[in-house]
Amino acid sequence: MKLKVLVVAGDGIGPEVTAEAVRILRSVAELGGYDFEFRDALIGGVAIKQHGSPLPESTLEAALESDAVLLGAVGGNEFNALPPDRRPEAGLLQLRQALGGFANLRPSFAWPSLSSNSPLRAEVVDGADILFVRELLGGLYFGEPRAWDREAGSAWNTMRYTRDEVIRVARVACELALTRQKKVTSVDKANVLEVSQLWRATVTEVATQYPDVTLEHQYVDACAMHLMNTPRNFDVVLTENLFGDILSDEAAVITGSLGMLPSATIGGQVNLYEPVHGSAPDIAGKGLANPLGAILTAAMLLRHSAKLEQDAQAVETSVRKVLEQGYRTADLVRGQPSKMVVSTQEMGKYVHQALNEIIDCRQAMHAV
Ligand code: IPM
Ligand code: MN
Repeated sequence: MKLKVLVVAGDGIGPEVTAEAVRILRSVAELGGYDFEFRDALIGGVAIKQHGSPLPESTLEAALESDAVLLGAVGGNEFNALPPDRRPEAGLLQLRQALGGFANLRPSFAWPSLSSNSPLRAEVVDGADILFVRELLGGLYFGEPRAWDREAGSAWNTMRYTRDEVIRVARVACELALTRQKKVTSVDKANVLEVSQLWRATVTEVATQYPDVTLEHQYVDACAMHLMNTPRNFDVVLTENLFGDILSDEAAVITGSLGMLPSATIGGQVNLYEPVHGSAPDIAGKGLANPLGAILTAAMLLRHSAKLEQDAQAVETSVRKVLEQGYRTADLVRGQPSKMVVSTQEMGKYVHQALNEIIDCRQAMHAV
């Protein structure tokens, strides 16, 4: 199989974690005899510096010609004073819009060896396995009108959804629920917002086509609390754009680190893969960043774009093994000071070794 991957590593820790994810993908390709082609392009702050734009035309073209885009992170403190449309983040939002993926899948899984890393008690987080389906192209991020009228001292954004936008993302959530625990929790603020009332009515309607799926609705404020109190009660959590942004960071508390969370955006012309964590400029270039979010993102790319489910699982199993062996980046040592603290690159190397063993073993079994 042939797969063209555009790598846009971006800013801060983006390049160092993405390098480890690419190393894993290259290894999968080599061991499986797949033809993966990697190209690099600029996005975010580095693109502003070199081309004056957070999403240069050349990056956009290369992205649209690829089968999948793997992104690191965008953003940096030096751009904080810029208006939203000129910041590094604008490049990412334009890319999301151009690629067309509207369903952002963000799994949050309680890795058994990391339960002491969560500030929540082990008996609360153990067994939690949540999949956020965050709508990615609507809501406050893209709704018009939007402006800051400095003279009037007033600013506004618009949370807008059409029925069709809700239908398509609700279907993705229901389809995915069928492959899991068959439960969808839809999040809204229907006690206050008309847009949430449309959301709730539409999701309810879509769910009638999925009789095997149990649908529940939660207000976003209550959901924020239930996620911490009873994370095991959730399976698929369906949200609009901003609610999903906020709640998926909150769900990082289940493992105690944002550095563990991957994401995949599907449904458009080209799928986009990005870890949930940001550019973390304070630790960039120091070998302190956790590459597992990026590596698990690569696993999602194998699953959703390359359709290599077995290889995706092999990468996830490798991550589990390395955690069981006791290797930890600095963000994963809460409650476990005796664990072996390793650098970004070392963590990548250990996952790589575990993966090679799994694939070797699989191939040896096939040969018998
Ligand atoms: C995320 C990030 C982005 C978002 C930013 C960088 C634009 O926080 O992917 O969660 O808000 O969607
Ligand atoms: Mn976010």
